[in-house]
Amino acid sequence: MQILESPAAMRSWSDEQHACGLRIGLVPTMGALHAGHLALIGVARERCDVVAVSIFVNPLQFNRTDDFEHYPRSVDDDLEQCRAAGVGAVYAPTQQSMYPPGFETHVEPGALAEPLEGAGRPGHFRGVVTVVCKLFNAVGPDVAVFGQKDFQQLAVIRRMVADLDMGVEICSVSTVREHDDLALSSRNRRLSPDQRAAAVVVVRALDVIEVAISAGSRDAVELQRLAADVVATEATARLEYVDVVDPHTLLAPTDTNALLLAVIAVWFGDVRLIDNRLIDARALTDDRANATVFDDFA
Ligand code: PAF
Repeated sequence: MQILESPAAMRSWSDEQHACGLRIGLVPTMGALHAGHLALIGVARERCDVVAVSIFVNPLQFNRTDDFEHYPRSVDDDLEQCRAAGVGAVYAPTQQSMYPPGFETHVEPGALAEPLEGAGRPGHFRGVVTVVCKLFNAVGPDVAVFGQKDFQQLAVIRRMVADLDMGVEICSVSTVREHDDLALSSRNRRLSPDQRAAAVVVVRALDVIEVAISAGSRDAVELQRLAADVVATEATARLEYVDVVDPHTLLAPTDTNALLLAVIAVWFGDVRLIDNRLIDARALTDDRANATVFDDFA
């Protein structure tokens, strides 16, 4: 497995692969790898001949310096996991090679980046799409694989790739969950044991929304109140937002008998967790199977 630390070194590895007619799959990460990342690597391996994993904690996408400083870093363990997973190259650029003095060009995302995560974390998606664009330029992937836990990130990246004619196939993978359904996240390892036990309310809040929608409820305020009540059962949890939106626009749905997306962000101390769930509210009006409903987002 090659470990490459600059855009030039990365590009030359990728040129060699393409010269041999090999298709490259990229899994962009910020390290602290877990089973969710391994699932992304697995899909990249199925779809491509060689896999590159990027590991870069991108300062541009953090709106709080303490979050950037405390973001978990475990490079040796990450490299070991990549090796064991059959990764061909790890792209671990230095801060200096990504953002040398004089760096000043950014990619500006549009309306999809404004609500939800965009409202709570100003500048976050501008940082994400800028770094993803740079990673794509260095790696030249045929396919890039992202997790559905960051649903809005996936939507914003798909938009960028289409708008800027990047010619990279974006592929998404369902969220991998722990025994109690908590979504795997690198941030989970920063939770204390008590916070970890309490964190299950994030999933339970999505459960009550799904149950209420299945029972016919469509009132956003009522759905938000039901979810907030669940989060409030844990004293250490602080709800930032919970909402039900149109998964295509990420805004309030104009048609509530449609595919809906429940989204949530909750704080446990200084750790912020997010999750989401696609809910088929059409199932009440017709009998379409969920499997086909979610094809749009695979
Ligand atoms: O999802 C992440 O880990 C990051 O936002 C990404 C896509 C690697 C960009 O830094």
